Amino acid sequence: MKPFFFEALSSLRTSGTIAPSSKFLIQDCLKNLDLENAKVVLEFGAGDGCFTEAILERIPADCTLYSFELNTAFYEHCLEKFKNYPNFQLYHGSAADFTKVLAQQQIQKVDGIISSLPLTLLSEVELEFLKDVPQYLHQRGSFVQYQYSLMRYGMFKRIFSKVELGFTLRNLPPAVIYRCTV
Ligand SMILES: C[S@@+](CC[C@H](N)C(=O)[O-])C[C@H]1O[C@@H](n2cnc3c(N)ncnc32)[C@H](O)[C@@H]1O
Repeated sequence: MKPFFFEALSSLRTSGTIAPSSKFLIQDCLKNLDLENAKVVLEFGAGDGCFTEAILERIPADCTLYSFELNTAFYEHCLEKFKNYPNFQLYHGSAADFTKVLAQQQIQKVDGIISSLPLTLLSEVELEFLKDVPQYLHQRGSFVQYQYSLMRYGMFKRIFSKVELGFTLRNLPPAVIYRCTV
């Protein structure tokens, strides 16, 4: 695969960034999820797999991570990089298909979702599928998303019962973290 910068730049409309998330942003996002006790975790927008790797390090062996990635180069990169993880399933397609995948896998509830989707570049119509998240999220689970602005705060407040905000300065650019619960 090309270096992240070039791949992301050549598909800026869907990648929404030119740099992978920093280890500080990854830590700050993942501390909002109870990964150690999870059975099913979803990831929207795996990219080069920086979050994927951190999640796979934290989840127990009986937990499965289902990741979604639209970009072919990132998909193939992650497929190869994580081929030795039996509890990892990668889907080459849109996160908008997550309900179909859960139905195929006969999964009713998930323990956590981490999303890197480029919210600013996607319209509310394209993000319509996020309205389905609450019905699949465990009462104790969280949906965690980062963004480089507060542009989708209102949308998350309409979808979820509770939205808490965090901030990470040590990322390029600094990011807002939404922790959403049902
Ligand atoms: C901002 S990058 C984040 C990559 C990585 N997770 C990180 O934090 O560095 C967003 C990723 O989401 C992917 N993406 C964009 N729209 C998507 C969609 N509808 N479904 C799945 N992946 C999508 C892009 O291809 C890109 O890899």
